[in-house]
Amino acid sequence: MLPTVDFFNCGMHHPDLGEADVYSENSYLVDWPPEDYRMLEKTVLTARHRVHESGLFSDEALCELIDLHPQDYLTIAAMGNDENRFEWMTGVRGETSAEDLLQAVKNGQLWVNLVSLARFHPEYARMLDSIYHELESQCPGFQAQHRSANLLISSPNAMVYYHIDLPVNMLWHLRGEKQVWVYPPFDDRFVSPRNIERLILGQMAEDMPYQSWFENYAISFRLQPGQMITWPQNTPHRVTNRDGLNVSLSTEHRNPLAKRRINVHLANYHLRRQFGCKHLSTDPRLWTARFKEAYVRCLRIWDQLTKRKSPEPFSYRKRFRIDPLADKGYVLLDGQTDLSFTEEEAVLAGV
Ligand SMILES: [Fe+2]
Repeated sequence: MLPTVDFFNCGMHHPDLGEADVYSENSYLVDWPPEDYRMLEKTVLTARHRVHESGLFSDEALCELIDLHPQDYLTIAAMGNDENRFEWMTGVRGETSAEDLLQAVKNGQLWVNLVSLARFHPEYARMLDSIYHELESQCPGFQAQHRSANLLISSPNAMVYYHIDLPVNMLWHLRGEKQVWVYPPFDDRFVSPRNIERLILGQMAEDMPYQSWFENYAISFRLQPGQMITWPQNTPHRVTNRDGLNVSLSTEHRNPLAKRRINVHLANYHLRRQFGCKHLSTDPRLWTARFKEAYVRCLRIWDQLTKRKSPEPFSYRKRFRIDPLADKGYVLLDGQTDLSFTEEEAVLAGV
């Protein structure tokens, strides 16, 4: 069975917006040397931008976005304080106003994600298209299809555990300070191909098993407003906020190679399961990758013809609701008094 989410067909595009409307005259990129453009998707890259100077991310703008954004696309999470102990929880906003939610994030330990921002807010969609248009025009061969963006609003000292993202992503930091650790890409010792398959199949979330020795091979960056960081697709990373309310725009895109990489993982899963194949490569540049991609497309067509229902993507159980007066900005829901994470650890470990 193929996964519910078609990771490469859920992005946004704005064919109805005129060219002049879509691309602003002002560049959002600051002093990128030609080499930076050529490094996109190939290595870890940090560069400067002026997205944070747009006026689109003030407290007032954030509150307006929170109110206008579809609540099904607004996710709230909380976490512990130790990167070695996976204690990620999701929660509900309840009746909390946008102002109170923002205050809870400022004072507490929360991570709010406005998912698919550009899909619902035209001004932000124009910004996203302008950024990618500039990247594409400056870098021959760079393609950003199915563009999307998530707006991350998070507390000082909040963190995101060790994980990967399936599409190619770029983090445009806008407010506050954060520390980002990046680990070797395309290395089975840091993220196993079996877990990438499980993620694509909706059997686990983006969080990946973490071991403290990974730190010996991490590169760490302190991100200030006006800095962007990106890396090759599926590169593992984790984040800890430092000072102030943190606001970042996480943009995502796909292209033929990125799609093929995911399809190769998916094909490997089915080839192993159906035919007992072993020692399968995950390299999307090998000639076998095109056959694997065709195989996955056939499976997808078969699923459509037989009307097989796709499994739901994995999500963590909701354990709290926002309370701006509480220390960490939330209180546990009724029946969630036991704060053990054995269930989440089991998912992570593939038990
Ligand atoms: Fe990420």
